[in-house]
Amino acid sequence: MKAAVMVKHREALKIDELPNPKPGPDDVVLRVEACGICRSDWHAWQGDWAWVGISPDLPIVPGHEIGGVVEEVGSNVKKYRKGDAVTVPFHSACGHCEYCLQGRPNICENVVIFGLSTGYNGGYAQYVVVRNADFNLIRLPENVDTMAAAAIGCRYMTAFHGVVRAGGKPGEWVAVHGAGGVGLSAVQIAAALGKNVIAVDIDQAKLEKAKQEGAVAVVNAKRDKVPEAIKEITKGGAHASIEALGVRETTLNSVLSLRRGGRHVQVGLTTKEEGGMISLPVDLFVALEAEFVGSFGNPHPDYAGLLALMSQGKLNPKSLISREVALEEVNDVFKAMSEYKTMGFNVITRF
Ligand SMILES: NC(=O)c1ccc[n+]([C@@H]2O[C@H](COP(=O)([O-])OP(=O)(O)OC[C@H]3O[C@@H](n4cnc5c(N)ncnc54)[C@H](O)[C@@H]3O)[C@@H](O)[C@H]2O)c1
Ligand SMILES: [Zn+2]
Ligand SMILES: [Zn+2]
Repeated sequence: MKAAVMVKHREALKIDELPNPKPGPDDVVLRVEACGICRSDWHAWQGDWAWVGISPDLPIVPGHEIGGVVEEVGSNVKKYRKGDAVTVPFHSACGHCEYCLQGRPNICENVVIFGLSTGYNGGYAQYVVVRNADFNLIRLPENVDTMAAAAIGCRYMTAFHGVVRAGGKPGEWVAVHGAGGVGLSAVQIAAALGKNVIAVDIDQAKLEKAKQEGAVAVVNAKRDKVPEAIKEITKGGAHASIEALGVRETTLNSVLSLRRGGRHVQVGLTTKEEGGMISLPVDLFVALEAEFVGSFGNPHPDYAGLLALMSQGKLNPKSLISREVALEEVNDVFKAMSEYKTMGFNVITRF
C-alpha cells in the first residue's frame, strides 16, 4: 500500500510502498477514504511531547483523523464486517481499565494513538489497523459521509468535548483562542449550543470564517490586547474560554480574559518553546474562583449525541474543510502549518 512515512523529525515525509497490514484477532483493517492533517501530527513531526511521554519510534505513519470503510476483520470481531463505514477516535482504548469502565476511555490508562504511539501506524496511508475494534470503532449513520467522519476522528470531536467541558448555560460568553481546526469547530459547536462566542486569531480571514460559523464577535490578537477586548465585549470577562492552539500567549490570554468563576479549558498542547510548562497567575485563580480544565479527545459514549446533531444537520464539520489534498501534498501542508497558513481542516482524500 501507499503511505506517507515519517522517517526523521522535521524532514519531509517519504511517500513509500509498505506491505498491506493484516488485522490481529481483535482488530480490523480500514480502507482509508479521508484523513485530516491535524496540528498534533505536525507536533509529532517536530518531535514535540517527549515531556508527556509521547515519543514514538521512527519510522511511523502519522494520521489520526480517519474516515474509512472496513476492509478486513479479525477473527474475534463481532460488531463489524467488510463494507461498514466508520470513524474512530484518535485514542484507541483498552475497554477494561478503571477509566474505560467509568465511560472515560479518552483517558484510558492503556491508550494508544495512531501515529503517536510506537508501532501504531496512522491514516496517511491506503489502509490502517484499528486495535480492539469492537470497542473503538464508531459506526456512521447513513447520512454522515467519510469526510465528516475524518473530522470527528480528532479535531471536531475534541472541540465538542471541550465545549462540554466548558459547561455553563445558554447565553453565556465563550471565548475561543485560535480559530484553526479545533477552534473553528469549537466556535460552530458552542454557537449551535446557544453560547455567545468570541473568536480570537491573528488572521482576519479565519476570523471572518468564525463569524460565518456563528461567532458574535471577533478579536484580532495582532491588533488588539485580547483580555481587554474580551472584557469590554462581555462587560467583565468570558464565562468560559477554550484554548485551541497551545502556546504561552494564547493560554495566558485565555486565562486573563475570564470573568469571576470562569473556566479555562486547555485543548491546545504546547510546543518546544513551552515544553509543557506555562506560568499561570495562580492567585487570580484563587481570588476569582476560576477553574483550569484539561480536555482530551472525546469519550466514546459521547459520540451518540455528536452524531445525532450531525445527522440532523445541526452540526456540520464539513463546512470547515478548506482543502482536499493528495498524500504527496502532506509535506506542503506541514510547511503551511509552521506558518499558520492553513484554514480549518486540510484532508487527504487522494491516496
Ligand atoms: N486536547 C486534544 O485532545 C487535542 C486534539 C486535537 C488537537 N489538539 C491540539 O490543539 C492545537 C490546535 O490544533 P489545530 O489542528 O486546530 O491547529 P491549527 O493550526 O488548525 O489552528 C491554530 C490556530 O491558531 C491561530 N493562531 C496562531 N497564533 C495565534 C495567536 N497568537 N493568537 C490567536 N490565534 C493564533 C492560527 O492562525 C490558527 O488558526 C494543537 O496544539 C493540537 O496539537 C489537542
Ligand atoms: Zn482503558
Ligand atoms: Zn488531532
